[in-house]
Amino acid sequence: MLWDTAFEIGCPRVDDQHRELVDMVGQLSSFNPAEISNKKLADVLRFLVGYTRYHFSAEEQFMFNIEYPHLEEHRKMHDQLIQDVNRILLNLRSGEKPDIAWLVKFLNEWVANHILEEDHKIGIFLKNKNLQIDEQKKFLEGEKARIISKLERLKDLFQKKLILIDDFREKRIEFLAESLLSIGLKYLRSFFELLDHLIEQKIIIEKEKARVAEEIFKKINLNEALKVIPEIEDRLFLLRIVQEFDLASLETIDKEKNDILKNL
Ligand SMILES: [Fe+2]
Ligand SMILES: [Fe+2]
Repeated sequence: MLWDTAFEIGCPRVDDQHRELVDMVGQLSSFNPAEISNKKLADVLRFLVGYTRYHFSAEEQFMFNIEYPHLEEHRKMHDQLIQDVNRILLNLRSGEKPDIAWLVKFLNEWVANHILEEDHKIGIFLKNKNLQIDEQKKFLEGEKARIISKLERLKDLFQKKLILIDDFREKRIEFLAESLLSIGLKYLRSFFELLDHLIEQKIIIEKEKARVAEEIFKKINLNEALKVIPEIEDRLFLLRIVQEFDLASLETIDKEKNDILKNL
């Protein structure tokens, strides 16, 4: 069994430990059980004890951080190995000679079933998640460019005196509100970041940002909107905007905020 970079899950600490274990088991498997020295065996067992202790907690923390959906099932498999290793150690301490052929087979199976299959799934999940994030970024960049070019076009029509200042202002607000609703509430935070950017660039003014927010909230139901936004940070951001522009009663805002924080 040889290490392959395809087994990497994207966490260098965990990957280094996996590589070490795969290499060690690979070496052991290439020996004749009768020729494995006590030192070699002690090295493996020492590594295995450390592995169960540090490696699992590092890997579980990593799965938690990336919101891996099968963390609990995975944790159970780790608990099972901890039990198995403890049994091996207990037998050793009580003076029982280890059955090297059995131990090598046990490790081989564990590496093949766990690291190369179960742990590998964590890496696949992370790769897909990153791909999705990249796609979302690209999508948002495209939307931002589209919005800016449309605003520039309106400005151009106004400068050519083909539309009046009131039309120009109204159209901008209407267009920005419609854009957010069509992009989706999920992207609310990046949309408001874009509005701040447009204010910085003097393309819109602060007052218009409030008007855009007002237009948006006229068309959505706060409670329903909070339900469709997946991230807690984004839901709290929505409430902050609602509060900043006085778009709902403080009582409603507090109630929604408490509901969100309750589920933390
Ligand atoms: Fe692992
Ligand atoms: Fe694992």
